[in-house]
Amino acid sequence: MNENNEPLLSTFKLPNGVELKNRIVMAPMTNFSSNPDGSVTDAEVNYYARRSKGVSMVITACTYVTPNGKGFHGEFGADHDGMIPSLKQLAEAIKEQGAKAVLQIFHGGRMCPPELVPNGEIVSASDVPAEKGGVSTDEPDVKPRALTEAEVEEIIHAFGETTRRAIEAGFDGVEIHGANGYLIQQFFSPHSNRREDRFGGSLEKRMAFPLAIVDEIKKTVKEHAKAPFIVGYRFSPEEPETPGITMGDTLKLVDALAGKGLDYLHVSLNDFFSAPRRGVEDLTKTRIDYLLETIDNRVPLIGVGSIYSAEDARKAFKTGVPLLALGRELIIDPDWVQKVQEGKEAEIVTQLDKSKQEELVIPDPLWNAIVNTPGWFPGVS
Ligand SMILES: Cc1cc2nc3c(=O)[nH]c(=O)nc-3n(C[C@H](O)[C@H](O)[C@H](O)COP(=O)(O)O)c2cc1C
Repeated sequence: MNENNEPLLSTFKLPNGVELKNRIVMAPMTNFSSNPDGSVTDAEVNYYARRSKGVSMVITACTYVTPNGKGFHGEFGADHDGMIPSLKQLAEAIKEQGAKAVLQIFHGGRMCPPELVPNGEIVSASDVPAEKGGVSTDEPDVKPRALTEAEVEEIIHAFGETTRRAIEAGFDGVEIHGANGYLIQQFFSPHSNRREDRFGGSLEKRMAFPLAIVDEIKKTVKEHAKAPFIVGYRFSPEEPETPGITMGDTLKLVDALAGKGLDYLHVSLNDFFSAPRRGVEDLTKTRIDYLLETIDNRVPLIGVGSIYSAEDARKAFKTGVPLLALGRELIIDPDWVQKVQEGKEAEIVTQLDKSKQEELVIPDPLWNAIVNTPGWFPGVS
């Protein structure tokens, strides 16, 4: 192995004592391939197994915690106990290959396609529709209904219940999906949250929902987990909309999250080295540098965003992030970590080979989404 890659492959202990075998994790990626009833398919289980040998931890695609949180066609569910056997199948397939299995848990809020949720009723923090061209690319053009306070409490509870199911299914942890414009972010955002109760009105109150979810999950873990269980939190640093989340807002949220006893924070970025848009003084410093400064070693940060080659990873790692997530690259080359380990980094493939769907074990719905979206993946024009 190239000795410059040794730090990437060194072990890392999470705050709860769980040891990761190296610093590379698989980023959560929706694959659109589950059954309509929310159970996983063999095709997606095989896709995960193919990618779980080298990395230290696999974060699954997001799964919905309540029926009205289903955000994607072919998304798998974790909203009732009947889903535990399906979740178990996924956890086992990942763990069998040697990676820790972390379930990403989510509610889509105003981003849910109406045809996927009961009675087509879309809910959010307030009755503000998403803007086209906003943080996500697939906003439905619908006006959501604002959740009542009692319903907000039910959803917080549902995040706890889904965590219990993850424990029972044998997952090593959960990642709270507070990023990419979905419900948790909708509560933190001044764009989507216009509430005047205890869940909105000021920056502090907009943090109440995300922080209550963290507390509920921590409580559930304490009650139900028999071994150390990983709890991570993912967030998007900024929104393009006005009003919208600024880098300054996010640093306040991150400061609060860093004191919550989480096992990691995970920023959602398309470009690891991107700079803030607004809300902080120095717009030339990277978002990652700002985050590391605010976190000040209180909790590990996972960095992500357009890391393809080993050189990209080395450069990102030098910023001081302890863990790196690879998304698209692990779809393109599932053997990334093994190639680095074996000193074969020159053989890493960084452009999708469109003749290799079968060899790469990519389910049809994901494959079709990738090849029909020019520019999304390197090698797809
Ligand atoms: C096909 C696909 C599906 C994704 N689904 C999710 C998801 O379910 N949850 C999430 O937090 N991020 C999701 N993302 C974002 C990735 O986790 C990651 O942040 C992004 O792709 C940038 O990393 P990369 O450049 O290594 O791919 C998805 C990305 C892709 C390409």
